[in-house]
Amino acid sequence: MKFSVLTLFPNQVSGFLHESIIGRAMEKGVIELQTINIRDFAGNRYGKVDDTLFGGGTGMLMQCEPVYQAFSSLYDATKESKPHCVFMSPKGSVLDQAKAKDLSKYEHVVILCGHYEGIDQRVLDEIVDEDLSIGDYVLTGGEVAACVVIDCVSRMIDGVLPNSEAYEEESHMNGYLEAPQYTKPNVWHDQAVPEVMLSGNHAKIKEWKRIHGLYDTWKRRPDLLQKMELSAEDWQSLLAIDAEKHEMNKETSIDEN
Ligand code: ADE
Repeated sequence: MKFSVLTLFPNQVSGFLHESIIGRAMEKGVIELQTINIRDFAGNRYGKVDDTLFGGGTGMLMQCEPVYQAFSSLYDATKESKPHCVFMSPKGSVLDQAKAKDLSKYEHVVILCGHYEGIDQRVLDEIVDEDLSIGDYVLTGGEVAACVVIDCVSRMIDGVLPNSEAYEEESHMNGYLEAPQYTKPNVWHDQAVPEVMLSGNHAKIKEWKRIHGLYDTWKRRPDLLQKMELSAEDWQSLLAIDAEKHEMNKETSIDEN
């Protein structure tokens, strides 16, 4: 899969993404990253790509033409169809795992990063297919957000993670959070790993992970649980876990006193 990032700060994007797992995926050729400096398309010798706002307002706005020329440089419009273009913006729909999965199906995604007060709406209307936000807060530019999108989408591409189970079982993939996980030693600070984890019974382990994933979702992100249909049996299990935890908390506070 190929990502092309249109930005005024290409080093910010390539510096981040060339490290670690995504960096290795690029070395292997599974992911391709191209960064395009919009300033290279300024059309003036000062590299100026922004101007003051019509109608008043503080700050500067990125102009249409440099953005348009940078985008047009990415493909031959006489032979190829326009690549899917995402504009990073706090006004966009908020990225989630399902959106990342949708984006992972494109062969080529162009990500446009705004800076300063943003970009002239006319060029956005012409080239952008969708606006995407990474959360309800405002960043200084779209670059960090573009890195988040590329990281999250890339790890769904075959060959980026060691195996697809690695992401299919994790938080958000099935609409709920991942269950707690454990490694050696079996007992640490008087806390034992749940017995079922050492049982070797894969069906039981799978069910334990599912129900404890649902439990954590109920306690931490009840909004996610509202979108799921749980059976009466599931609710019984969740209430039983809750009662057990309350009991354990009571015991530890008695021990401490
Ligand atoms: N640019 C500025 N803030 C942003 C956000 N929250 N998400 C995506 N792009 C942004």
